[in-house]
Amino acid sequence: MKSLTANELRKLFIDFFVSKGHVQISGASVIPENDPTVLFTTAGMHPLVPYLLGQEHPAGNRLTDYQKCIRTGDIDSVGDPHHLTCFEMLGNWSLGDYFKKEMIPWSYEFLTKVLEIPAEKLSVTVFEGEEGIPRDTESAELWHSMGIPYERIYFMPREDNWWGPAGETGPCGPDTEMFIDTGRPACGPDCKPGCSCGKYFEVWNDVLMGYRKTKEGQYVEMDRKCIDTGMGIERTIAILQGKKSVYDTEVMQPILKVIGELAGTNYHDDEEKDVSMRIIADHIRTSTFILGDQRGVSPSNVGQGYILRRLIRRAVRHGKKLGIQGSFLAKVAQVVIQLYGEPYPELRDNEQKVYDELTAEEEKFSLTLEKGEKQFEKMTFFLEKQGVREISGGSAFKLYDTYGFPIELTKELAEEKGFTVDEKGFEEAFAKHQELSRTAEAGQFKSGLGDHSEQTTALHTATHLLHAALRKVLGTHVQQKGSNITPERLRFDFSHAEKMTPEQIREVEDLVNKAISDDLKVTCETMSPAEAVEKGAVAFFSSKYGEQVTVYTVGDFSKEVCAGPHVEHTGDMGHFHILKEESSSAGVRRIKAVLEK
Ligand code: ALA
Repeated sequence: MKSLTANELRKLFIDFFVSKGHVQISGASVIPENDPTVLFTTAGMHPLVPYLLGQEHPAGNRLTDYQKCIRTGDIDSVGDPHHLTCFEMLGNWSLGDYFKKEMIPWSYEFLTKVLEIPAEKLSVTVFEGEEGIPRDTESAELWHSMGIPYERIYFMPREDNWWGPAGETGPCGPDTEMFIDTGRPACGPDCKPGCSCGKYFEVWNDVLMGYRKTKEGQYVEMDRKCIDTGMGIERTIAILQGKKSVYDTEVMQPILKVIGELAGTNYHDDEEKDVSMRIIADHIRTSTFILGDQRGVSPSNVGQGYILRRLIRRAVRHGKKLGIQGSFLAKVAQVVIQLYGEPYPELRDNEQKVYDELTAEEEKFSLTLEKGEKQFEKMTFFLEKQGVREISGGSAFKLYDTYGFPIELTKELAEEKGFTVDEKGFEEAFAKHQELSRTAEAGQFKSGLGDHSEQTTALHTATHLLHAALRKVLGTHVQQKGSNITPERLRFDFSHAEKMTPEQIREVEDLVNKAISDDLKVTCETMSPAEAVEKGAVAFFSSKYGEQVTVYTVGDFSKEVCAGPHVEHTGDMGHFHILKEESSSAGVRRIKAVLEK
C-alpha cells in the first residue's frame, strides 16, 4: 500500500477521476443550503441532490470533489481513538451518465493501481436484494471479472448495503462497499466485512443510485441512474499509513501537539489525558470548520449554533481538566487553519472571526465553569451521602440556567461520577421557567414590541418579511440582532458587514411589497425547537427556548421562531418603505422602515 498524506490522497483521487472525464467542482458549505431536514452537510452527495434528481449541472454529468462533512450523531463517542465529528469525503458522481460497468473497474483500478492496495487484501459487499429490488448479481460479477474471488464477495441486506437518502427524502440506492483486510485475527467464525471488531476496514462506498425516497416513505425507481461514491480521507490515510487511529496521522498530530504543549503533557503519555486531548482536537477542528465556513454560524442555543456551543464548551471543560490556564481555543484553531487553509481558503478568509468567536464563547463560559463544577461537586457529594445516584431535573436546570451547562455536559459529568440525570425533570423545569418568564414579560416589551395595536402587529409581520428578504438578497449570514417597534415605525438590527447599496435596498423593498401584495396567509404552529430547526425556521437571538416554541410561517416566504402576535393575512399591511439604512455597531446594520397606508 502507498503511504499517503491527506493532501496526496486528495490530489490522486481528483486527478484519477479527471483522467476519466470528470470535472472537478468545489465542495460546498458545511451548512446545507437547500435541505432544512439536516443541520450539516453529511456527505459529498448532499449538495448535489437536485442534480442527482435530474436537474442539469453546469459542469456536466461527470463530477468529482472533496467535501467537508460534519456528522454529530456520534458526538458522545468522540474521545475514543476513532471517532471524529468532522471529516473530508472524496467523491465522484455520474449524473445519469455511466453506471456500474464503468464504476466498479475504476474502483478496482484506483484501489489496486493508484493506492497499490494488494488485491488479495480486498473484499467487497453487494446488495442481496429484497422484495421489489433485485439482488445485485451484476455488481458481484463485475467484481469477479476484476479478479475478486467469490468467497470475498458478500451479499448483504439493506442494513449494510443500502445508502441514503441523506436527509428525509431524496436519492438513494443499493451500494457496493470495499474493505481492506487489516490482517488482524477474525473475532469469530461469522466475522466478515461490516463486522465492528476491526479486522475489516471499509475504504470506499459506491452507491448505485437508482431510487428516490418520497415524503410518504416510498422508494420510487428513477429512470436515470446515478453513481455517488464516498471515501473518507482521514480514515483512509490512517490505514494506508499503517496507523491504528486517525489521531496518529499528520492531520491530527499537530493539533494534539499544541494541546500537549499548552497542557504540559504529550499525547500517548497518559490514557485519561489522551481522551481529553482528542476531544479538544476534534471539537475545535469541527468548530473551526463551522465558524470559518462560507455560511458560518455563531454559537447560540438553537440549531447549528447549539451544536457549535456544545462543542466549544466541552472543549473548554476538557482544557480545564488538563490544567490549561487562560484562553487557548484560538491557539488550537490556528493550527487547524494552518493545516486546512489551502484546501479550504474560506478558513483563511474568516480567520479572525474564528478566533474572536471562539475566544468570546470560551471567556463567557470559563467565568462560570469553575463555579458550576464546584456546585456540581457539592451536589453530588450530598446526594452520595444520602445514597442517591440521580441528579434531579431542577438541579440540572440550575446548572444550565446559572452556569450555562448544556444538559449534555451535565450528563457527561454525571456519568464520570457514576450518576444519572433526570432528563425529563430537566425538560419540565425548563418549560416551567419559560412559562414564568412569559408571564413576567406580559404587558412589557415583547419581541421588541411596544404594544399590541394593529399598527405594531403589522409592523411586526413586516419585520419577519424584512428579515426573510434580507436573507434572500444579502445572504443567510443575516441574522436579527435587535428589533424595536413603535406604532409609527420598525427598527431592525441585523448582522451584515457592509453598507447596503441602493439597489439592494430597492430589491429588499420590492420583495417585501410583493409578499404583501400576494396576500400571504400567516400561520402559527407549536413544536419543539428541534422540529422548528428541522422545518427550516429561522431562530434568532440566543434566548432560552422552552420545550415548545411557536413558529410563524408567512406563505412560503418566511418561517421564524417567534412569540407573535402577527397579522393573519399580509394583504392589508400597506406599502413597505425603508427610511434609513445605517451602521449600528461593528458588523451590524440598522434599518428603519414604515408601512404606508
Ligand atoms: N454518499 C455515500 C456515503 O456517504 C457515498 O457513504
